[in-house]
Amino acid sequence: MVNDVGAALDGSGGSEGPAGDVVEEIRAAGGEAVADGEDVADWGGAGRLVAHAVEEFGRLDVLVNNAGILRDRMLVSLDEAEWDAVLRVHLKGHAAPLHHAAAYWRSQGKAGHRVDARVINTSSGAGLLGSVGQGSYSTAKAGILGLTLVAAAELARYRVTVNAIAPAARTRMTERAFAEAMAAPDGGFDAMAPENVSPLVVWLGSAESAEVTGRVFEVDGGRIVVADGWRPGPSVDQGRRWSPGELGAVLPELLAKAAPPEPVYGS
Ligand SMILES: NC(=O)c1ccc[n+]([C@@H]2O[C@H](COP(=O)([O-])OP(=O)(O)OC[C@H]3O[C@@H](n4cnc5c(N)ncnc54)[C@H](O)[C@@H]3O)[C@@H](O)[C@H]2O)c1
Repeated sequence: MVNDVGAALDGSGGSEGPAGDVVEEIRAAGGEAVADGEDVADWGGAGRLVAHAVEEFGRLDVLVNNAGILRDRMLVSLDEAEWDAVLRVHLKGHAAPLHHAAAYWRSQGKAGHRVDARVINTSSGAGLLGSVGQGSYSTAKAGILGLTLVAAAELARYRVTVNAIAPAARTRMTERAFAEAMAAPDGGFDAMAPENVSPLVVWLGSAESAEVTGRVFEVDGGRIVVADGWRPGPSVDQGRRWSPGELGAVLPELLAKAAPPEPVYGS
């Protein structure tokens, strides 16, 4: 089931274009596929998408949340409607299909069917490290990481794994923004080809990845990196409340022991 609302890069418009094209490619390669044009950030639309997949194929095994739009702005130039649109498509566009798929898998389990299902969410380096000029996008993509951790913990009991990827590839989303870095080489390995990302998504959707959940992978070209998330660093506990005046003597020392933060993209 290939879903795409057919939106322009800024989220406007709608046609069956991208989903229809992918369906044709899958069929030409000998596979079976059906296009769906629901808006995944519409709660009811996401429900109809899950129902459509089950109706067409008799079951649902893997959900890949991937829809996204960009409205890049510096924070001083933020536009409220653009902020809402970016958070809606990325965050609600992940949460809504996840909710409906999870409800389907729970009902399958209750009916005595063996569930062994996968969810792959799409974050970004912008969500992991932040990206200058992409406040709304970075916020949404960081939110997807939080959602992934919670979903992995909540859905383990239904035998559903939930992982996230942070890809980088030449697509219509990036071809203008990062034209130079994304350009195809004259010959040799095309590190920015989007199909470099697909094998990891296929593996995370397969039976082999049953024990992998709550993980985040950066993937581009031939590179796959397990992202090491927030974890406790150096700490101090004096067993009673600190006064602000005491902290000046303690916090610089604590920060000196901590790993320096990774640079924000574009900074
Ligand atoms: N290309 C990269 O380098 C890169 C880097 C990091 C993250 N990502 C993420 O990868 C995902 C795919 O992006 P892409 O690079 O292939 O760009 P893309 O613009 O080609 O694909 C995104 C698709 O999402 C669809 N879409 C938008 N709103 C939708 C909605 N409400 N319901 C259903 N479909 C909707 C669009 O029509 C579009 O076809 C996005 O989540 C993006 O943020 C991409």
